[in-house]
Amino acid sequence: MKAIASAPAKIILAGEHFVVYGEPAIVMAIDCYAKVSVKDRNDNVIHIASNLGFSGSFKGNRFQPDHGGLGAHKILEPIRIASQTALKELKEESGLNIVIKSEIPVAAGLGSSGALAVATVAAVGKFFGVNFTKEKIVNLSFEAERFVHGKPSGIDQAISTNGGIIVYKKNQGITPIKVKKKIPLIIGNTGELRSTGDLVKAVKIKRDRFPKIIDPLIKTAGHLTTKAIKTLKSGDLTKFGELMNINHGLLSAIGVSNKTLDNFVHVAIEAGALGAKLTGAGGGGCMIALSPLKKRKKIAKAIKNAGGTPIISSKVDEGVKSWIQK
Ligand code: MEV
Repeated sequence: MKAIASAPAKIILAGEHFVVYGEPAIVMAIDCYAKVSVKDRNDNVIHIASNLGFSGSFKGNRFQPDHGGLGAHKILEPIRIASQTALKELKEESGLNIVIKSEIPVAAGLGSSGALAVATVAAVGKFFGVNFTKEKIVNLSFEAERFVHGKPSGIDQAISTNGGIIVYKKNQGITPIKVKKKIPLIIGNTGELRSTGDLVKAVKIKRDRFPKIIDPLIKTAGHLTTKAIKTLKSGDLTKFGELMNINHGLLSAIGVSNKTLDNFVHVAIEAGALGAKLTGAGGGGCMIALSPLKKRKKIAKAIKNAGGTPIISSKVDEGVKSWIQK
């Protein structure tokens, strides 16, 4: 018997980075999943196999890679942390065989590590007969996210656990929001890998150097997100698109956009997007374009011609789920 859990990826519609400084962000779960299966073993080894090109075993603090060399440690360590945090909570001492099958591109701003941590915690709980509450899953997956991102706001675990569209505010948790209209989005993946932790650190350095300039931008981003929440609730996609463009400008101002992202944003708007912005930590990774159905093909083609991979994705209302397979 094994336990399986799946958790969705995410895109941030407004407020990334500024959320680290206490402002609200809007984030949506999308139909792209990380799946984790868990089974016990009768030694103390945690073995992790994955479709990400990495696998290996942890025995105490020692890591032995099977695939991916020593680089595998960086990718698999957060899964080990998530599984051992869950074991500790359950007061279980057991080795584990963990198998990861993830559709979420790594280091692309779509919350791959958050979804993996959340699914790991839920699967370990399920295997030992416990359905952790959502709040517990978010808390237990935090340690793993800290390993990956340094000082994350917690937004990625929150959305992968809850699904749907939520407003996230650090230390205040989540508020699900109902949006009347579908939000027709195209994701443009630059294929440029980057580290969320490094980008969050770079913003902090900029803020420390120029507090009087950066702090008002953070406040402005907070007002923008508050307006964007109202706009989404009312279904005014044209106005929401305009706010996305301003949001991208604010992210550029704090230094987290790059040439490729700026280019994708411009070509998407030229091709008829109502608005576009980078999503997630920036510095590469992905952008999103608000794409009316009639313009969808043209926008996807424009992103492709600019060198990106367009991904058409939809909102999913369900967050993490777990089940037993005999
Ligand atoms: C990463 O998905 C979003 C950031 O705001 C970092 C965080 O909130 O932890 C860039």
